Amino acid sequence: MAAPKEVAGCKLGSLIIEGKTKQVFDLPEQPEQCILINKDRITAGDGVKAHDMEGKAAISNQTNAKVFEILKAAGIKTAFIKIASATAFISKKCDMVPIEWVTRRLATGSFLKRNPGVPEGFRFTPPKQETFFKDDANHDPQWSEEQIVSAKFNFNGRLIGQDEVDYMRQVTILVFEILEKAWALRDCALIDMKIEFGVDSDGNILLADVIDSDSWRLWPSGDKRLMVDKQVYRNLANVTAADLDTVKRNFAWVKDQLDHLKPNVHHKVVIFMGSPADLEHCKKIAKAAKELGLDVDMRVTSAHKATEETLHIMQQYEDTHGALVFIAVAGRSNGLGPVLSGNTSYPVINCPPPSDKLVQDIWSSLSVPSGLGCATVIYPDSAALMAAQIIGIQDYIVWARLRVKQLEMAASLRVADKKIRNLSLE
Ligand SMILES: Nc1ncnc2c1ncn2[C@@H]1O[C@H](COP(=O)(O)OP(=O)(O)OP(=O)(O)O)[C@@H](O)[C@H]1O
Ligand SMILES: [Mg+2]
Repeated sequence: MAAPKEVAGCKLGSLIIEGKTKQVFDLPEQPEQCILINKDRITAGDGVKAHDMEGKAAISNQTNAKVFEILKAAGIKTAFIKIASATAFISKKCDMVPIEWVTRRLATGSFLKRNPGVPEGFRFTPPKQETFFKDDANHDPQWSEEQIVSAKFNFNGRLIGQDEVDYMRQVTILVFEILEKAWALRDCALIDMKIEFGVDSDGNILLADVIDSDSWRLWPSGDKRLMVDKQVYRNLANVTAADLDTVKRNFAWVKDQLDHLKPNVHHKVVIFMGSPADLEHCKKIAKAAKELGLDVDMRVTSAHKATEETLHIMQQYEDTHGALVFIAVAGRSNGLGPVLSGNTSYPVINCPPPSDKLVQDIWSSLSVPSGLGCATVIYPDSAALMAAQIIGIQDYIVWARLRVKQLEMAASLRVADKKIRNLSLE
C-alpha cells in the first residue's frame, strides 16, 4: 500500500510499522500520537490466506471506534483518541507489548486442539485467559505468564514484571466482560476475543491496537451456525466473490449493531436533603456518584414539614425513570428516608450528615417500622457506591465503572506495596 502524505488535513510523518491490516504513521505535529490507517484487506492463518475487500477498512475503522468509545465510557484506559477519516484513526503512540491477550467464555477453535478432551461449548467461569507471543514466523506460540515475566520486556521505561502482567490480565478479562454484557443487549454471545496493550510515553499501560470483527467470535442468539465474525472467512476452503460479500455484510451488520449497545434503561439517583444546611454532605455524594457515571439530581424537601410535597416529588421521578435510587440525607431524627421507603418500591439509602450526635441520631435511620427496607450508610462515598451497585444491575456501563475502580485501586495498592518493599530493603 502506497504511503500517503496526509490524511484529512493531518500531516503524516514516517511509517512506524506496517502490518497485514494497518499502517501506522508518526504525526510530526503531535509527537505523542500516531495515526492508524486500515487497509481494505482481510487475512487469516498468519497471512497465508489473504484477500482484498473493498470497504473493509471503513467498516473496521467505525467498528473499532464504537467499541473503544464504549470502553472509554466504562473507564478503561485506552490509547484510542478519535477517528481521523473514513478509514483512519488517531491513537496515543505506544511501545506495543508483543503479546496477544485472549479471553474465552466458551471453548472452541484452537483451544479444543490444544486441550483434547474438552468438549466444544465448555463454559469458563470466570472467563479463561490465555497469552500468545506475537511471532508470525512461529505461528504466535502460547506463552505462560512466567515466560512473559522472564522476557524482562521494557517499554518506554516500564519493565513488564509480575504486577504489570497481573494488571493486563485483569483488564483483559474486564474488557471481555464489558463487551459480553454490551452484546447481550442484542442477544449476541461474545465467545472469545483478543486484545493488545501498549505503553505510552509516560509509562502507562493502555489498551491499544484495535478491536473489530477480526478480534472476536460473535454468535447471534448464542448459535454457532449464525456466526458473524472473521471465522466465517477462516472456514472458507475456496473463497468466491459471493463469500467475500457475505463476510463483508456480516462485518457491516456488526458495525451497525454497535449503535444499539448503549444501556437501555434511563436511570436517576435522587439525593433528597431535609435542609439546605446539608448541602455540602450531599455535594460529596453527588460528586462520587457522578464519577461512577451516575445521573444525579439534588432536591431539598422535608418529610416532617412538607410530607405531601416530598411524596409528590418522589412520584414524579417514579413516573419518568426505569432505574431509580433515592438517597435520603437528614440530620437529627431521619423521617425522610423511612417515609420515602414506606411509599415506594425503589431502593432508599439513608446517609445522615456528620454530627456530634450521630451515634444517637443514627437509630432513627436504623430502627425503622416494620415493612420498611431502607439501607443506611454514613460515608458519602458509600452512598454513591451502593447507588451505583444498584443501578449497575441494569446498566453495564455503571457496573463496569465500579469494576474499573476496584481494579485501579488494587493496582495502586500494588504500586504502594512495591515502594514499601523497596524502602525496607534500604
Ligand atoms: N497505538 C499504537 N501505537 C503503536 N503501534 C500500534 C498501536 N496500535 C497498534 N499498533 C501496532 O500496529 C501494527 C500494525 O497493525 P496490524 O494489525 O496491521 O499488524 P498485523 O499484520 O495484524 O500483525 P499483528 O499480528 O502484529 O497484528 C501492529 O504490530 C500493532 O501492534
Ligand atoms: Mg494486528
